[in-house]
Amino acid sequence: MTILKIDSSINGQNSASRALTDSIIKQLNAANWGEQIVTRDLFTDPIPHLTLDAFADTSLLEEFQAADIVVIGAPMYNFSVPSQLKAWIDRILIAGKTFHYTANGPEGLAKGKRVIVALARGGFYGDGAPAASLEHVETYLRGVFNFIGIEPEFVIVEGVNVSPEQRESSLKQALVEVELLAA
Ligand SMILES: Cc1cc2nc3c(=O)[nH]c(=O)nc-3n(C[C@H](O)[C@H](O)[C@H](O)COP(=O)(O)O)c2cc1C
Repeated sequence: MTILKIDSSINGQNSASRALTDSIIKQLNAANWGEQIVTRDLFTDPIPHLTLDAFADTSLLEEFQAADIVVIGAPMYNFSVPSQLKAWIDRILIAGKTFHYTANGPEGLAKGKRVIVALARGGFYGDGAPAASLEHVETYLRGVFNFIGIEPEFVIVEGVNVSPEQRESSLKQALVEVELLAA
């Protein structure tokens, strides 16, 4: 199996989403799921904003298409995904390649891949939270991957900026969830 690991946090070693993507890769490796691991760091190796000319370069699309499992680190920045990650998404949602329109509406063409998103949020956005309506990372990424035929899985760490204790306990809980991913 080929695993594509995408990180987009600007927080280097202190990144909660990176801690989770690293741990997910370790788990998948331990379960012998990762014969080949391709890593793409969208912070250290950023992709420019989309332009019309950029459509000619299909290397990121091909890298995505070649992966069996895609592990994505997605921090919440200003209620949405980092622009670094958005630029990558702009390269993989391509009509005729990962989706097409039929008489019955759009159809995803990227079926069969496993996508695991490690989502880190500073506050709380779950059902019933006062800020729930500002959650545009999980909902957005679910929409994006559903559109191309994939039901993504999420490991969520939240409340990481509330206090060091909250960060530690949220991370601990998320790491337990990661252990179940390769089961
Ligand atoms: C530029 C920036 C914007 C942020 N915006 C939000 C936000 O809108 N809501 C929130 O809950 N946390 C926000 N945070 C906190 C991050 O979601 C939190 O620190 C999380 O751990 C980021 O993931 P990372 O550690 O992998 O970078 C923001 C952090 C940064 C650096």
